[in-house]
Amino acid sequence: MKKSDVLCCLGVESTADDFGVGIATFKGEILANASSGYVPEEGGIHPREAARHHAEAADKVLGEALSKAGTKPTDLALIAFAQGPGLGPCLRTGATVARALASYLDVPLVGVNHSVAHIEIGKLETGAVDPVTLYVSGGNTLVSAFDSGRYRVFGETLDIALGNCLDVFARTAGLKQKRGMPLGAALEQLAANGEKLISLPYVVKGMDISLSGLLTAATTLLRKGECRLEDLCYSLQEHAFSMVTEVTERALAHTEKKEVLLTGGVAANRRLQEMLSSIAEEHDAKFNVVPRQFATDNGAMIAWTGVLAYTHGLVTPVEESFVKLRWRLEKVDVPWIK
Ligand code: ATP
Ligand code: FE2
Repeated sequence: MKKSDVLCCLGVESTADDFGVGIATFKGEILANASSGYVPEEGGIHPREAARHHAEAADKVLGEALSKAGTKPTDLALIAFAQGPGLGPCLRTGATVARALASYLDVPLVGVNHSVAHIEIGKLETGAVDPVTLYVSGGNTLVSAFDSGRYRVFGETLDIALGNCLDVFARTAGLKQKRGMPLGAALEQLAANGEKLISLPYVVKGMDISLSGLLTAATTLLRKGECRLEDLCYSLQEHAFSMVTEVTERALAHTEKKEVLLTGGVAANRRLQEMLSSIAEEHDAKFNVVPRQFATDNGAMIAWTGVLAYTHGLVTPVEESFVKLRWRLEKVDVPWIK
């Protein structure tokens, strides 16, 4: 079969600090997954600066993805984009690129929920079918499982997200984000040399967790300078990861599902993988973790979820393609799951 006979979807991801373009076939083969990350000079993400980065990087990233996939723009059958949740200026930049491409190529456009996409790429890449998912990233921390037409949220953070908690602590400790090495990964390296578990706040309320007290306590100890940084990183991880693991375990016991899926940027963390794998084993469930290149934000997950949506009757007319900054997971219909 010629390349042009294969139906392909191009997906645009731009919810936060990464601008990504992925290309997926309608059969679920990922042909390309290109991206460019915005690294702030200092501090956290500045939405307008990130959006400017995305606008400047769009041309190059699109070109890279198309050439990696060996696809001509005219071979694309569908354009998908992350419609939310995320940062307004960043989302709007990606949506503009996607709308322009769809109109120019005269192909359908489909808006995808970024959280659903983190779950779907995890399922595609691991073969998980109906998992209890722990989705942990810079902006999200939630435990979800499918029930009656939607991904339901069983538990979530009441304040900051797990990745954000790790990033703020790492930044306060003077760790620097480098290309290819997120702050959470730098913290993980230090934590691996931790020797002493320091007692910190552990807050689980019902099925929800709270991380802000933990972050404040760890940061206060850091500023006092009386503890080894490695011990603090280790203790922060142990406490935070135990909280999300506890909630995931309860969701697993309640739903009696037979698979656990770990997805989102923080899924790259080995210690978190270890903890989840052990609770999965205790409940006779299979543990799955999204491969590293699809853990952090990426265009491939948007392309693949676009395929699922479109092939199950969903399209987003341009006049309805406005971005949704707070588009919650449980508000999204997922007709491709029965
Ligand atoms: P979302 O919109 O999904 O919340 P996000 O922009 O935060 O998105 P992701 O790329 O999914 O995006 O996740 C980034 C987070 O993952 C950062 O907080 C980063 O520090 C964290 N992270 C990446 N690698 C590791 C690691 N090895 N250990 C812990 N955290 C990690
Ligand atoms: Fe994300």
